Amino acid sequence: MSTALLPGLERILFTEEQIDQRIREVGAEISRHYQGKVVKLIGVLKGSVFFLTALARHIEVPVKIDFLGISSFSNKNGAPGVVRIAKDLDDSIEGEDVLLVEDIVDTGFTLRYLLQTLAGRAPNSLAVCTFLDRNSRRIVQVPVDYRCFEIPDRFVVGFGLDYNQLYRNLSYVAVMKPEKSA
Ligand code: IMP
Ligand code: MG
Repeated sequence: MSTALLPGLERILFTEEQIDQRIREVGAEISRHYQGKVVKLIGVLKGSVFFLTALARHIEVPVKIDFLGISSFSNKNGAPGVVRIAKDLDDSIEGEDVLLVEDIVDTGFTLRYLLQTLAGRAPNSLAVCTFLDRNSRRIVQVPVDYRCFEIPDRFVVGFGLDYNQLYRNLSYVAVMKPEKSA
């Protein structure tokens, strides 16, 4: 898709080149930490797909890949935090070195649920790699082992992240105009 800024978007936060450069660095970091091991990347559908495939190409230890899909709901009071698995992994992770790959960690509810669920399946190790981190909005504390970028408190799209399922295929990350994301 073209790199022109689409209507509805306010500004580019990270260009394709910045994203590529940072993913190379994080891939190298992961390669060092998992030396001599096989790493299983678990992607959370659908947002992490673009990041996961880019990252995997810069990891130099053997890699396996699996995906899970989740649905999140608001509870009766409209508060976020209710998450369930809508599509489970294809394979067991018992005894494996698992790296959970997320598009963005925001409040932390999704990640906390996923970590609890995956930890119960007896992996050898379990770590987290997120493309974006919006730490200023964290409600529950969750461990993040690798992050590409910390972002401000604005709604962002592109490189996998969506607004109403759109914009995932942008090669950059952009901040949405406030009236769109409100
Ligand atoms: P959390 O449970 O609040 O950490 O929510 C994380 C999930 O909310 C992410 O995996 C995204 O699917 C979605 N999300 C949070 N912030 C954004 C954003 O700025 N753009 C697109 N999706 C977002
Ligand atoms: Mg997500």
